[in-house]
Amino acid sequence: MATFAFISIISLQFFFSETNVSPIIRPQTSKDIDSLAKASRPDCSQLFLYLPHDISNNGICSQLQNYILALHVAATFHRTLIVWDPVTESTTRPIFGCSPDAEHLSTGLSQILDVPSSRSHACASALCPFNHSEWTRLLSSSTNDFVNLTCDDVSVMVSGGRRLRRQYLQRLHETSQQMNYTQWVSSIGGVTSTQIDWFQQIQEHQQDDDPWLGVAALLAPRIQWQPFLQPLIAHHLQTFNLPQSYTALHIRRGDKLKREAAAMVRNYWASRGETDPRNHPNYIPLEAYVAQLHPGQDPSLVYIATDDPVTIRDEIEQLTATPWTFHLLANQRLQSGHMNTEPDCHARYNMTIDAIVDLEVMIRSQVFVGELNSNWGRFIHTKRTEFNSTKPILRDFRIAAGDNHTRYLGQ
Ligand SMILES: *[C@@H]1O[C@H](CO)[C@@H](O)[C@H](O)[C@H]1NC(C)=O
Ligand SMILES: *[C@@H]1O[C@H](CO)[C@@H](O)[C@H](O)[C@H]1NC(C)=O
Ligand SMILES: *[C@@H]1O[C@H](CO)[C@@H](O)[C@H](O)[C@H]1NC(C)=O
Ligand SMILES: *[C@@H]1O[C@H](CO)[C@@H](O)[C@H](O)[C@H]1NC(C)=O
Ligand SMILES: *[C@@H]1O[C@H](CO)[C@@H](O)[C@H](O)[C@H]1NC(C)=O
Ligand SMILES: *[C@@H]1O[C@H](CO)[C@@H](O)[C@H](O)[C@H]1NC(C)=O
Ligand SMILES: [Mg+2]
Repeated sequence: MATFAFISIISLQFFFSETNVSPIIRPQTSKDIDSLAKASRPDCSQLFLYLPHDISNNGICSQLQNYILALHVAATFHRTLIVWDPVTESTTRPIFGCSPDAEHLSTGLSQILDVPSSRSHACASALCPFNHSEWTRLLSSSTNDFVNLTCDDVSVMVSGGRRLRRQYLQRLHETSQQMNYTQWVSSIGGVTSTQIDWFQQIQEHQQDDDPWLGVAALLAPRIQWQPFLQPLIAHHLQTFNLPQSYTALHIRRGDKLKREAAAMVRNYWASRGETDPRNHPNYIPLEAYVAQLHPGQDPSLVYIATDDPVTIRDEIEQLTATPWTFHLLANQRLQSGHMNTEPDCHARYNMTIDAIVDLEVMIRSQVFVGELNSNWGRFIHTKRTEFNSTKPILRDFRIAAGDNHTRYLGQ
């Protein structure tokens, strides 16, 4: 800690006062990444250090969603993102479980996602010379959600998982309504002129198009599983023998029913004329999801990811004369990845892989039915969004109940 550090605090009025810092050039497709990454050097003088560790007990999609927030914040402040996960030691718990090949020693997002990790990032050596616990202590000694410091002319803004979420959720969406999207989008980097035109169009003509759909379409390709996991994921997907066209449902119950989903469930049953909780189950039934499908039109093979496979299996049996053929992905594994509480490290790793595979099945389906109350639904929503050559498109995404819009990206 020989280097002297200035610590300053970002208050909310500065949150969007960023001025002309050169944009980060980041390519769009993985094919481009190799060629462009070599050509363009990241700007190491303005960094955003994201420490995800304090939300590592959350479910997998909660952590993925928070990473989307980190990408978004980095673009907002025109800063190069670095993700710092702790190194695995005997005292730390590998968040996503223990891989059979002990080659990959980090614990955290870089176990599963191809993140700009401090372990390999070209700008990592420009960071102030603190270790993970020193960064964490520095952050927790401040009551602010973002801390700025400058070491050797390198400006580092640092935030953690919970702080990022808190700040972002309260403020970003409202403030961003007043933002110049064209300017913001160009700071994501690797954006085409057609894409910028689309944002310009909706801003100038006040069209009904949702700018967040465009933002999702730009960020989605940046969320990629670790390359070393790709063969394993592909192997698991192969065992499902997925047809070219299929339908996917995600049905989240479990612990959500007690809190976040309670109102959605109540409203659903009220819309069916049932207001007495003693007369209906405390969840949205499978039939509400199936009711979103069109027989004869949608693919009849239906894959279900759920944290409640036992009840769902009963519900499937009760659907008589149904044109749909159901497959439960979670047949042998309860809660795959919805929760992060499995104590056995190898079993937890298997659950992580299962969750990733389930997500892939959901993301790739022709038709998807879920809801936007859960992080899974919101993450799948983002990953099903893409720019065609003119505009952002959300591939067929239907909701069984609750809000039909994402209030903010990443939430
Ligand atoms: C801290 O960083 C933010 C984002 O880059 C910037 O808006 C703010 O001016 C910085 N504050 C100081 C004192 O450098
Ligand atoms: C981090 O740095 C502090 C202070 O220099 C030191 O006491 C601590 O052992 C270091 N932690 C690790 C994990 O290296
Ligand atoms: C937004 O920023 C772009 C690029 O800086 C500029 O060309 C455009 O006029 C701005 N639009 C509005 C509505 O301020
Ligand atoms: C994890 O999965 C592998 C193969 O998929 C299996 O061989 C192993 O027994 C599983 N481990 C646990 C602890 O469930
Ligand atoms: C992009 O999608 C829109 C909406 O579905 C469609 O109208 C348009 O033709 C598509 N453009 C191209 C080039 O595929
Ligand atoms: C979303 O729901 C609102 C009110 O429930 C409805 O008016 C609107 O048409 C729905 N939008 C879509 C895209 O389904
Ligand atoms: Mg969750």
